[in-house]
Amino acid sequence: MKRISVCVDVQTQHVRDLILACLAEDKTFEPSLGSAPAGAQLYIREVGGRLQEALAELAELRAHYPNLEIALTSAASDSSTLLCCMDAGIRYFLPQPVHPKDIRAVLRRYLDRQSSEAPPPKRALVIGVIGAKGGVGATTLAVNLALAYQQNLPEGGVLLLDANIPHGDAGLFLDLTPQLDLATIVADISRLDTVLLESAMASHSSGLRYLATVRQYEDLPLSTPESMSHVLSLAQGMFEVIVIDLGTYYGRVTMKFLELADVFLLVTEPALSCLHNAASFTGYASQRSPGLAEKILVILNRVHDRAPYSIADMEKAIGRPFYWRLPNDYQTAGTAKEIGQPVVLGAPKSRLATAIRELAQSLLPQPGSGKRKRGLFGLRLFNRD
Ligand SMILES: Nc1ncnc2c1ncn2[C@@H]1O[C@H](COP(=O)(O)OP(=O)(O)O)[C@@H](O)[C@H]1O
Ligand SMILES: [Mg+2]
Repeated sequence: MKRISVCVDVQTQHVRDLILACLAEDKTFEPSLGSAPAGAQLYIREVGGRLQEALAELAELRAHYPNLEIALTSAASDSSTLLCCMDAGIRYFLPQPVHPKDIRAVLRRYLDRQSSEAPPPKRALVIGVIGAKGGVGATTLAVNLALAYQQNLPEGGVLLLDANIPHGDAGLFLDLTPQLDLATIVADISRLDTVLLESAMASHSSGLRYLATVRQYEDLPLSTPESMSHVLSLAQGMFEVIVIDLGTYYGRVTMKFLELADVFLLVTEPALSCLHNAASFTGYASQRSPGLAEKILVILNRVHDRAPYSIADMEKAIGRPFYWRLPNDYQTAGTAKEIGQPVVLGAPKSRLATAIRELAQSLLPQPGSGKRKRGLFGLRLFNRD
């Protein structure tokens, strides 16, 4: 049986002892003491006089760990304190003096909630797409990949998240101009839930959902690694696949997405400056951690016969093989953009669309890989008839 880890952060000794004694009655719980609830599922925290400060701190914690449940204990248990706690998303409150029956009731309510929340949330396959520089085809790839998956899934199966901040133009490729964007929904992160998230998305006729990037310069501070990881974590429970267009934005938010993604496609062209940027980013990621670098798959876009370098030379320059090569298909790609009909939909038989569908297929988790992604195994994006 998997035990539930509980972090107990309570200074008043007799309150702490009572809580630990109640937790010890049920072997489901695995208590630990401390003020760092990373990895815990339930965090029991005592709050003294500075309630607002503590709630702000806890809101930040919840943004970091959206699945963490928090129980507060405090000597102040007047109605305004309780309302503030509820407003901050704190579901459990233990007024002091604390009685064992109240602690047991909170623990029982927590367990009931966990069991009633079945089935477990979907964990979407998350694919980041970034360009080695502007204009290399990152958005073309992100949009068409998302559509390739959506074509094989029920309506609303795939989210295209535009995180090319603030110049995302994926909506243009789909002929969509949503009213709301990422900034609207992270403006008050504590209120963000799946309903609000869904309301900010636009629906494409293919069934794809699209969430626009933070578009206003004054909203840029709203896009933080914490707020974006909260959005992603919520969205992962709602979709089978999430494709994120990061444009050429290399910053803290991108590094967070790299950490959270299953795969990260780094798009380059056969040009020296792009290859240089690709090599320096993969080099930086390896320095941070080999796990991060392994997620990066370099895609060579616009492959053509007259490329100035051989594939072998380009691979030597970036220090790794290209994961996939996409043909140069100027006519098809250009027309697609002009008419707002991406190649996978408008020119499905073109070499470019075929190569993108095959790439999409290859990124799906393989049976037996241990990376279970609900509903994605066995998906055939490629018509083999
Ligand atoms: N494989 C390709 N062949 C020909 N043209 C392409 C290809 N991929 C992208 N393009 C074109 O390159 C231009 C830039 O593409 P875009 O996806 O907007 O790049 P980015 O998002 O990296 O800035 C667009 O006009 C697009 O039609
Ligand atoms: Mg782009």
